[in-house]
Formats: sequence, structure tokens, C-alpha cells
Amino acid sequence: MNPTLGVLISGRGTNLQSILNAVAEGALRARVGIVVSNASGAPGLARAKEAGVPTMVIDHGSFPSREDFDRAVIDVLKRHDVDLVCLAGFMRLLSPVFVRAFPGRILNIHPSLLPAFPGLYAQRQALQYGVKVSGCTVHLVDEELDHGSIVAQTAVPVLEGDSVESLSARILVQEHLLYPEAIAKVLERLSA
Ligand code: GRF
Repeated sequence: MNPTLGVLISGRGTNLQSILNAVAEGALRARVGIVVSNASGAPGLARAKEAGVPTMVIDHGSFPSREDFDRAVIDVLKRHDVDLVCLAGFMRLLSPVFVRAFPGRILNIHPSLLPAFPGLYAQRQALQYGVKVSGCTVHLVDEELDHGSIVAQTAVPVLEGDSVESLSARILVQEHLLYPEAIAKVLERLSA
């Protein structure tokens, strides 16, 4: 049977969409078993529903601690037999409790060439620094923010006169190509 992905989102979900598309097209031999959002208003939830994928909103605000929230998410992912967790614009820091629940089985996509510009506003950081090349990175998640072994990267030029919006849009096009490919690569390694 195809491996099961659990996708965690907080917002618009265009990377989720690229994963759903790759699955539908048969380019990614996996199924998305569950989409979890910490925000009830995340537009990405509608993308999951449209694709017939179950969704769950787990509001981080209703838990006394990060670990309690993480345990609730872990529970949902385990109940859906998730083999690989894909963070796709998920805006919560994961605690060691979460990372240890899925060792080597959590991926994140970040809009810079890590280790440059981790954290929020990576595209703005790149523009402010003045780099001429930026890009996107898919990496395994460890206990540090935007850290962990790099699975795949794509470089994107920073052009004269770029704004945060124009650079972000150029990077996003590449994110949508990179993430499904990187997921396929990791699934292959996990099944070997
Ligand atoms: C992407 O730029 C991703 O790299 C970052 O958050 C953004 C999410 O966008 N981690 P979307 O919700 O997938 O459209």
C-alpha cells in the first residue's frame, strides 16, 4: 500500500496543493491521510476537503503547553497511520516531544537556501542582506528551528528591484516543484 502522509498547515496551503496535485497525477506514490491545521480559518483546509482528504483543526490556544498541543497532534497523526509528516507553512515550533514521536520522519519546506535565513520572513531577510541568489530548502526536522539534514534545494535568482512579493512568488514556484520531489525521495529511502 502507498505510504501515508500527514500534512500540517497554518495558512493558504499552496504547498499542500502541490502535494495533493502530485498525488492525484501519480507523480508522488503516496496518499495524504490527514491535514491538520492549528488555525480554523486556514484556507488550505478547503483544498484538503476539495481533494477528499480528512481535516482536523487543533487550536494551539486551547492547550496549556506546547507539549500538550504537540501530543494532541501526534495522537491524530498516529490514529491516521501517518508514515511521514510534512510541514507546509505550519507556523508552530514543534517541541522535542513531537520530533521524537516521528524520528527521521518529519519534513519542512523553507523559503531560503538554508542554513541562510532561518526563521520568519526569510525572503525579506535575503533582500535585506543583499544576496544575489536565494531559493528554497526541504529538510528533515530536528529539535532546532529550520535546521536538520537537507533533502533538496533549488536556487532562485534575486533580481534588481525585487520586492518581498516578487521574490517570494519566484521562490514559491520552485517550492511547488521541489516539495513533492523531496517527499518522494524520502519515502524511497524510508522503504529501502
Ligand atoms: C512557504 O513559503 C513555505 O516555504 C513556508 O511557508 C510558506 C507556506 O505557504 N514554510 P503555503 O501555505 O504552502 O502557500
